[in-house]
Amino acid sequence: MSRFAEEQDPLFRRINASISFDRRLAPFDIEQSRAHARALRRLGVLDEAELATLLEALDSVASELAEERFEFRDDDEDIHMAVERRLTEIVGPLGGKIHTARSRNDQVATDLALLVRAHSARAIALLEELMEALVGMAEAHRDWPIPAYTHLQRAQPVYLGHHLLAYFWMFLRDARRFHQAAEATAEMPAGSGALAGLNWDLDRDGLAADLGFARPATNSLDAVSNRDFALDYLYAASACAMHLSRLGGEIVLWSSQEFGFCEPSDSFASGSSIMPQKKNPDAAELLRGKAPRVSASLASLLGTMHALPLAYSKDMQEDKEPLFDAIDTLEVCLAAATRMLSGLSFDRERLAEASADEFLAATDLADVLVADGVPFREAHGIVAGLVRTAVGAGKQLSELEDSEMDGVPEDARGRLRDSLREGGTLEAKISAGGTSSARLAEQLEAARGALSGIRG
Ligand code: ARG
Repeated sequence: MSRFAEEQDPLFRRINASISFDRRLAPFDIEQSRAHARALRRLGVLDEAELATLLEALDSVASELAEERFEFRDDDEDIHMAVERRLTEIVGPLGGKIHTARSRNDQVATDLALLVRAHSARAIALLEELMEALVGMAEAHRDWPIPAYTHLQRAQPVYLGHHLLAYFWMFLRDARRFHQAAEATAEMPAGSGALAGLNWDLDRDGLAADLGFARPATNSLDAVSNRDFALDYLYAASACAMHLSRLGGEIVLWSSQEFGFCEPSDSFASGSSIMPQKKNPDAAELLRGKAPRVSASLASLLGTMHALPLAYSKDMQEDKEPLFDAIDTLEVCLAAATRMLSGLSFDRERLAEASADEFLAATDLADVLVADGVPFREAHGIVAGLVRTAVGAGKQLSELEDSEMDGVPEDARGRLRDSLREGGTLEAKISAGGTSSARLAEQLEAARGALSGIRG
């Protein structure tokens, strides 16, 4: 029997059905049904034989789905109904007992929490591989100078290892955010029923333990309509994708002929269909290009949840596609970033030449004067004058004659030229967190420690 006298309009089916995308929840839905059946046994709704029959049938449904042998039907509205329909085909009316003491509202929220927990862990694992690769590269390039930029103007040289580790710390913060997203799934929605709770005193503590939740959610209305954990995942993913886009964007610049700092491996680049000389850093470009898709998913789910009255509304079915797309996009980006980095080769000579630009040491010259008691602002002015003279005369700073060193105390002139020797400005960056070799060695050690910490 059905409450309805008429068949569903095909167009209604089309707008209403979620099966085309929520079939992806199948492994979590089945895992939940197994645990739910065990809870129904503890409640006395199922006897031992019925439980065994249902668990066995759930195993067959799971393999049919995993091996893509499961035959979906046109009237399978969503994965929850498809699984119950198939279960009933296999075991007969007993299959209809599985939906005792649950609603699709608490069921879908629980599936989604399980999925977010699994993919938060996956993101952390992928981030670890990326961070590991960055530490290895930083180690290998610990003493290769590279110009660092502000306003995309050469500012001061740093060691390439220092530059690469900047990304390490971004990704470490991302890993922490994914931990928080996983933590946000600690409370189990299942056992909340449609919205008000159940007419059964289901063993929710046992069910939570069975499914790996810390505890059952405390309020049934909140539980069925909470999607905060998905939002937390999406924010973590958005920040992470944004970091990847910065890394990608930098590699696009660095691998241009204008910079000539690095080159992707052949296996991670494409050619042009018309220009034979081209080698394009496509993967790096796509790290840059895909990031907005992830943050659009965050905006999309925030929009879906905006002003929704309690408890479940069908709007919430729109939570899935953006979340799934963000998961897939982020995971391929993380994996590709690691592989791309491992194949990247840097041009040591070109980097050295670009960082040997003496004007990058202008701040250091000012500091030499400061050490002589000249106030910094005044020193800044004196060095600005030297830069102007050198630029005007087409000279490097170290080529300036004494007569061109206006305003520089005589006894400081030698020390100024001295500070321009190769590597001087890098090794002068002695403050904690700076680029000098000693500080970079500390940083490498801290990065290795942080890496083993998130594994711990
Ligand atoms: N397919 C639905 C979704 O994804 C499942 C929940 C349906 N609940 C309902 N009351 N119609 O949101």
